[in-house]
Order: sequence, then structure tokens, then C-alpha cells
Amino acid sequence: MFNMRFVSQDWVVSCALILLVSCTTYSSASLGKPENNIKTSVFKSPKIELGPGLVSNKFYFDVDFPRGHIALKSFNAELVDESGKSLPLQETYLHHWFIIKYQQPKNVTHNNPTDNIVYVRNSGFCQDGPLIQYFGLGSETRGTATDIPDPFGIEVGNPSEIPYGYDEKWLINVHAIDTRGVEDRLGCIECRCDLYNITKDADGNPLSPDYKGGLDCCPDNTTCRLNKGFKGPKRTLYLKYTVKWFSWDNYVVPLKIYILDVTDVLSVSKGVTPMHNCEVEYQVEPCSKGYSSSACIDVRKTSFPMQNGGYVIYGVGHQHVGAIASKLYGQDGGVICSSIPKYGTGSEAGNEKGYVVGMSTCYPRPGTIKIKDGETLTLEIIYSNSEMHSGVMGLFYILVAEQLPHQHLL
Ligand SMILES: *[C@@H]1O[C@H](CO)[C@@H](O)[C@H](O)[C@H]1NC(C)=O
Ligand SMILES: *[C@@H]1O[C@H](CO)[C@@H](O)[C@H](O)[C@H]1NC(C)=O
Ligand SMILES: *[C@@H]1O[C@H](CO)[C@@H](O)[C@H](O)[C@H]1NC(C)=O
Repeated sequence: MFNMRFVSQDWVVSCALILLVSCTTYSSASLGKPENNIKTSVFKSPKIELGPGLVSNKFYFDVDFPRGHIALKSFNAELVDESGKSLPLQETYLHHWFIIKYQQPKNVTHNNPTDNIVYVRNSGFCQDGPLIQYFGLGSETRGTATDIPDPFGIEVGNPSEIPYGYDEKWLINVHAIDTRGVEDRLGCIECRCDLYNITKDADGNPLSPDYKGGLDCCPDNTTCRLNKGFKGPKRTLYLKYTVKWFSWDNYVVPLKIYILDVTDVLSVSKGVTPMHNCEVEYQVEPCSKGYSSSACIDVRKTSFPMQNGGYVIYGVGHQHVGAIASKLYGQDGGVICSSIPKYGTGSEAGNEKGYVVGMSTCYPRPGTIKIKDGETLTLEIIYSNSEMHSGVMGLFYILVAEQLPHQHLL
């Protein structure tokens, strides 16, 4: 089902008949070369089944994605039910999703689809695993712009970068928590270990008593504590994702993706390549009693030497509930981008009260914000700590152009 492809004259019928299949539409806006039209492809992940309190944290290999040598222009995602209706965060919390590019040998057997695959990471610093995605957000995904202005784009599918004998493919991870009927909604979305009755990590090692919550405590198939006697139906949902793109041409200026993590610790030792260790999550301890809540703020800062600079074209932070702001500074102390969370005020999907439903983005006029080669950037992440928060994140995405197009094209 999810690998179906349609030739162009089929899509109208296919999209109209069943929303379960992918479809592509063509808009009239033109970019790059005049005849190069922006295209919008809408896909769905494999189905996700959840009941009250349940967690799903699964990896879906070889998902639908636009093929060929293309420029990505935006990537949006949200959880929808079987009828395609947007699910509000109070019912199903979208903890995170991300999409990773990888290369797979063509000779792979069906038994071992992950044999010999090579992950193609972004240009960011975290090594060994986390934060290698091209795109990824969480609860704020409906309210956060990801559009890339012309004439820039993220280049994928370049045949000269795919090794002989390999195919380029995409993998999606979706972490969702069904919070219908749970005893403590904030505790469940912050993955408090006591609510999930978890005391050991995935390898069976006991978790530190200081570790109150985070991804170790809400792995796949676990359940967050429900109100006594609560019963609710199981249901099927999907991550619906929308990709805007167009065929690569020589007018497109490629962007590099950097994901900065405030938990990143750079260890430098003689004769060894510097290592970045990204914890991804951290815990915000509550402020001392007696402070007025306006004084209760938790500030973290980390610095990153950028080997290769360039022009910042887009910036956005990623934070969880409790977030106040995320800011990226240049070496001279000037603000490169400040990204502020937006909290919902209602109950409808996209505006859920108490949840981070969007992050503001930065679109500096191309050429105006330049990172120099070797410049040290500083990331500042601010949370409220009027109460404790576990498993929070402090990420910052920047898209950087190493060269600018000719002025007359801007
Ligand atoms: C498949 O291709 C990869 C990469 O070229 C190679 O390392 C591997 O040995 C091959 N496996 C089989 C079963 O041919
Ligand atoms: C919590 O886990 C312990 C040990 O695995 C188990 O004995 C206990 O029944 C669990 N409690 C609940 C409420 O699931
Ligand atoms: C969760 O349950 C599903 C269905 O039983 C199973 O396929 C999957 O492997 C489980 N996940 C983990 C991490 O054990």
C-alpha cells in the first residue's frame, strides 16, 4: 500500500478516492527555471495503533518520499486519525518525529532490510546516533514554518552522491503518547518514570534515582498510568507528512542543515578528533521555594565552533512545555536568531491549551547574517522552572548557504 506509485494522470482519481495513498499535486508557482514548478506530495506513515496511556515509538524504513534529484522546499507533519482528521495533542501527544536519509545496498534481502545501510547525516555536530535527521519536530509541528525561500533548497537524490549499488531511502521515527484518561497529563508527556513504572533502561541497567523522566522511561509499547477504571477504544492513526519540492536545477542554491543541541559536550583530547556528545534531553530542576515564579528561569548555554560558515537563511528552536525562548548568538554577541514558543489557548488541533503549538522562525534577508569560518556560536535555551520538567530538549536548526546567488536573482 505505502509503496504505491501513480503516474501523473492517475493522481486526481487516486487522491479523490482514497486518502490512504500518497498523492502529488502541482501548483503554478514557478521557481528556479521558469518551467520548474513546485510540487506538493502528501504521504502517510504506516499505521500506528494506540490505546489509552500507550506509547508508540517506532522506526519505519523505506517510507514514501519524492524520488529523483530534487530540492526540498518544506516538510510538515501531523498526526491524523483514520479519516484523515487532525488529532489534538490532549488526546495523542506527538512527542517527536524525524526523518533520516540513508543508503541501502540494492542486493539487500527482505529478512534484513537494515543490513549494511549507511545513514547520511546532516551537517551538524552530534556524533554516534542522535540528531542526524533532515527534518524533525514535535508538538509544535503544526504551527512552525519550515518553508525555504527561493532560490534556496535542500538537495537530495543527487545520483553522483549515491554510491554505486545503493539506493537512497528515507526512514521516519514517530513517538506518540495516547493521553486519553491518564492520571497526570504533563507527567506522561514528560515521560516521568514513576508514571510508566520504569526503573531500568533498554539494556536492563538501573536508571539513576536522579533521572525523573525522559525517553528511557517511555519506550515503545509502555503505558502511562491511567485514572482508575478508565477505558477507551484503541484507535489507528498516522503521521501525515507533506513535502514541497521541485526538480533540481542549476538555479537552486543548496543549503546545509545544522542541528545544534544545548546538551552537546565537546571533548577535545590530543591526537583525537574532537567528539561531540549530545544527550538530547535534560532535566530542569524546580527553583527554590520562596522565589516569585517570574524569577524562576533555567538558562543553559553551549558554544559551538563552526568550521565552515555561511549565510543563515532559516533558523528555528525546538523546545518542550515550560519553554520560554531559544536564542542563537554569534561570536560578537549579536543575536543570529531568536525563536519563541507559542502556547495554545483552546482545545482544537493546532491550538491546544498548555502545549507548545509553534515556534517562531527566522528568515534573515539572505546575505545579512553571515557566520564566519571558524566562528564560535552560542546557543541559549531558557525554560521556566517554577515546576520541575523532565526530558526537555533545547535544539536549534539553522539552514546555511555557503554561497549566495547572484544579486539580481534575490
Ligand atoms: C551487498 O552489497 C554490499 C555493498 O556493496 C556488500 O558489502 C555485501 O557483501 C553484499 N551482500 C550480498 C549478500 O551480496
Ligand atoms: C511495576 O513494575 C513492577 C516490577 O516490574 C511490577 O511488579 C508491578 O506490578 C508494576 N506495577 C504496575 C502498576 O504495573
Ligand atoms: C511493541 O509491540 C509490537 C507489537 O506486539 C512489536 O512488534 C514491537 O516489536 C514491540 N516493540 C518493542 C520495542 O518491543
